[in-house]
Amino acid sequence: MKPTIIFSSVILLLLCSIFKVQTEDCFCELKNLGQLFPMQKLEEIDRAFTNCIDVLAQEQLTEVDILLDSLHYRLLNLQEDMGRLEKENDDGIYGVISLRIIEIELSEIGDLILKLNSTSHRHRALTGNLAPQVKNLKSELEKLTDYDRMEVVKKHHENKKLKRHLSDCQAELKITPAPNITPAPGNCPFGHLLNVSGPHSYMTTVYGTSYPYGSWGMDPKPAPGKEGWYWLVALTNSNIYANYIRTYSSQSALIASQSAGDVIITSSNPTTNSLIGPGSVMYDNALYYNCYNYPKVCRFDMTTKSIHSVELPGAGYNNKFPYCHLTSCYTYTDIDLLTDESGLWVVYASEANFGNVVLSRLNASITLNILQTWNTSLFKKAISNTFMACGVLYATRYVDKDIEEIFYALDTTTGMERGNLSIRFRKVSGIVQYLNYNPRDHLLYVYNDAYILTYQAVFG
Ligand SMILES: *[C@@H]1O[C@H](CO)[C@@H](O)[C@H](O)[C@H]1NC(C)=O
Ligand SMILES: *[C@@H]1O[C@H](CO)[C@@H](O)[C@H](O)[C@H]1NC(C)=O
Ligand SMILES: *[C@@H]1O[C@H](CO)[C@@H](O)[C@H](O)[C@H]1NC(C)=O
Ligand SMILES: *[C@@H]1O[C@H](CO)[C@@H](O)[C@H](O)[C@H]1NC(C)=O
Ligand SMILES: *[C@@H]1O[C@H](CO)[C@@H](O)[C@H](O)[C@H]1NC(C)=O
Repeated sequence: MKPTIIFSSVILLLLCSIFKVQTEDCFCELKNLGQLFPMQKLEEIDRAFTNCIDVLAQEQLTEVDILLDSLHYRLLNLQEDMGRLEKENDDGIYGVISLRIIEIELSEIGDLILKLNSTSHRHRALTGNLAPQVKNLKSELEKLTDYDRMEVVKKHHENKKLKRHLSDCQAELKITPAPNITPAPGNCPFGHLLNVSGPHSYMTTVYGTSYPYGSWGMDPKPAPGKEGWYWLVALTNSNIYANYIRTYSSQSALIASQSAGDVIITSSNPTTNSLIGPGSVMYDNALYYNCYNYPKVCRFDMTTKSIHSVELPGAGYNNKFPYCHLTSCYTYTDIDLLTDESGLWVVYASEANFGNVVLSRLNASITLNILQTWNTSLFKKAISNTFMACGVLYATRYVDKDIEEIFYALDTTTGMERGNLSIRFRKVSGIVQYLNYNPRDHLLYVYNDAYILTYQAVFG
């Protein structure tokens, strides 16, 4: 029964790809397979719990009573949140937050049930009438918790989003696309970064929550025919290393975890064939990353599979100058690659610059030479991440487990630094392992404790 449900969700999403580029037409074949979250079941369970409480009130078993009461309120919350989720606008933040809350609620309810069971075993009085009821409730809730492990709710949500994308796509067809210009660093035709909105999309990777460290995105300068492709590098080896790039041919494929294949990074040189840390970017059909165990940037060509590298003079590596929040540092985040309108950049720190951030612009080609370097006064271990947009370097700090703040900017045209920005955005989880801006879609690509998210950069 279960495999059918999962399979159906996948089929549904694949049918719903939007073939805009190829046909200059919007096409979406959407079938409603009717797999919605079982709200009725939730109401039934809650009713059964209310009965339990009534029975217990007579028996005056306070410990169990409190547990059941607590469960009752949990279920009411869950019902409310499910109801709200159904009504929500998918493009807002609330979709993500509600999904997280519902996941947390389901797992907390599960814990309460376990506690209730162990408590009820201590109270012999419960074994008669109540024990079978508790057992029954537990199995019902288990079914609910396991209900495609929230995948149905998520996919339902994604389908609603795809439907909206379809109407956006139809609207876009009527608009003439803007000419593709490459502005010089700092000279943004669309102004300064004013805000960050979203998340606009979010999901866990194909690896679930097993690997909190990784990087992902879309190539800002894609190879012909690969305009809609996504890439993903999860640090599947100890959360530190990886040696392959997973590719997806569309957003629907990414959502449905239908990979277009893995590209293995191999070379005759063992020092450059694996990548370390979550700082990689894809640019012009090549992956740029911190080469394993060296203060170097590697370039892996996706077509020829050749690897080139460049040393960053004096760069800290292997956890010397990582990103941090207070005393907790994000492992192997010393060397961070970035992309923007003017190409490829790298952020690191050196002892010569007192552990402060050094920014270099790189020639994104096989020569991979350093074009220009800026010494900043920004202590690297005091920031949580960075990105570039329009020749401006932005740095973030951890505010709390829900909020991250862009607080710093360095304009590379004027060399002026400022630390008084306050552009805040909401996270799904505490740590932002990866942050990069894509100049093609103006989205920030984020890896947030195994969740992959995008945010819209708002300029003006
Ligand atoms: C309750 O706990 C007992 C032992 O602690 C276990 O055998 C039983 O399967 C549990 N029942 C449920 C419904 O969890
Ligand atoms: C920035 O975006 C957030 C979320 O979309 C919004 O709540 C906030 O008002 C915006 N701030 C500004 C200054 O526009
Ligand atoms: C950055 O600082 C280092 C160390 O003091 C120095 O050698 C280098 O010339 C500086 N670079 C720039 C662009 O100021
Ligand atoms: C960048 O690399 C290309 C290709 O190797 C080379 O032709 C070009 O001169 C380089 N540009 C600069 C500014 O160094
Ligand atoms: C922020 O700092 C910069 C540079 O220190 C300064 O020019 C600017 O006026 C400051 N802005 C605000 C709003 O304080």
